[in-house]
Amino acid sequence: MTGTKRIGILTSGGDCAGLNAVIRAAVHRARHYGWDVVGIEDGTHGLLSRPVRCVHLDTNKVDGAMMRLGGTILGTTNKGDPFAYPMPDGSKQDRSGEIIDGLRELGVDGVIGIGGDGSMAILRKLAQQGGFKLIGIPKTIDNDLGITETSVGFDTAVAVATEALDRLQPTAASHDRVMVLEVMGRDAGHIALSAGIAGGADVILLPELRWSIDGIADKIRRLQEGGRNFALVVVSEAVKTMEGAAAKQEFADGQKRYGGIGNYIGHMIAEATGAETRVTVLGHVQRGCPPSHSDRLLASAFGVAAVDLLAEGKSDRLLAWSNRTIIDTPIEDAIKTYAAVDVNGILVRTARGLGIYVGDAG
Ligand code: F6P
Repeated sequence: MTGTKRIGILTSGGDCAGLNAVIRAAVHRARHYGWDVVGIEDGTHGLLSRPVRCVHLDTNKVDGAMMRLGGTILGTTNKGDPFAYPMPDGSKQDRSGEIIDGLRELGVDGVIGIGGDGSMAILRKLAQQGGFKLIGIPKTIDNDLGITETSVGFDTAVAVATEALDRLQPTAASHDRVMVLEVMGRDAGHIALSAGIAGGADVILLPELRWSIDGIADKIRRLQEGGRNFALVVVSEAVKTMEGAAAKQEFADGQKRYGGIGNYIGHMIAEATGAETRVTVLGHVQRGCPPSHSDRLLASAFGVAAVDLLAEGKSDRLLAWSNRTIIDTPIEDAIKTYAAVDVNGILVRTARGLGIYVGDAG
């Protein structure tokens, strides 16, 4: 990258496991080129403060311990689109100019943004307006970005949900209970499907597939008839009620998120089968923990590749994992490719082949 001596790196959107491993890898690779790396705090929010909130990163600051560290040392935010920033008086203001000035103040003209599709859309607009280079790295436990086979954080979230099933199974068996586990994933059922298969679930409910209480109850009854005294049910947070409504909860700050479908399903199962039922909502436990080895590898490969792309003079590219390697595509195209669970795909077929109830066919 001609003339560039300093790059910025930021994490944006919800945190997940593996973000620190990306940062570490980028800092190590930047050292190879003799570049400075500035870590921008709290996503683009750090660039709205004066002085800009940032931390100078060198390889001593990002040692191997970063591999094990969940969250993001830079902080992040999933609020406050700088193009329509919510002001205290309730109005929305375009603060993109302040962010670009903040980057200029830092002397940064290349940025590595680690985020999901929403963050990438915002960063891309900022990069175009501010004339700085941008390389994006996909992270989301939801794994709903279609361009990449997997995103940073997904594997760890699946591992946590699988471990939860490992822990629920003995207590379910001890008490002859049906255990319902509600997992995250936003509108896509990837975490539920992968963890459900890996954790030996009997029922997996996905937002992508229609379910019926008769179908679930029938599966549980057949287990009972076969001598099984317990069942494990995984429910993706965006699964809808029988009436087709999304289960959402509103927090004190007015934000709404998915939540509550596990209790609804648990109640329905208890009524339909008479089984004693308990519900576990896994929530943010799926995000804030040491990354799995796969996420550490993915994160490291993405961090190195992002710096190499900047060194080649490339910009406006999102990295993706594809066919055992990294590819890069225009951010605009990449963020258009939403990936829900493929209802005819190999994992749904596998689940059905294992006798797991994943919704009604047809
Ligand atoms: O997109 C990641 C995710 O963890 C979703 O799976 C979940 O629905 C949402 O974020 C939770 O958001 P928040 O951290 O704002 O509660």
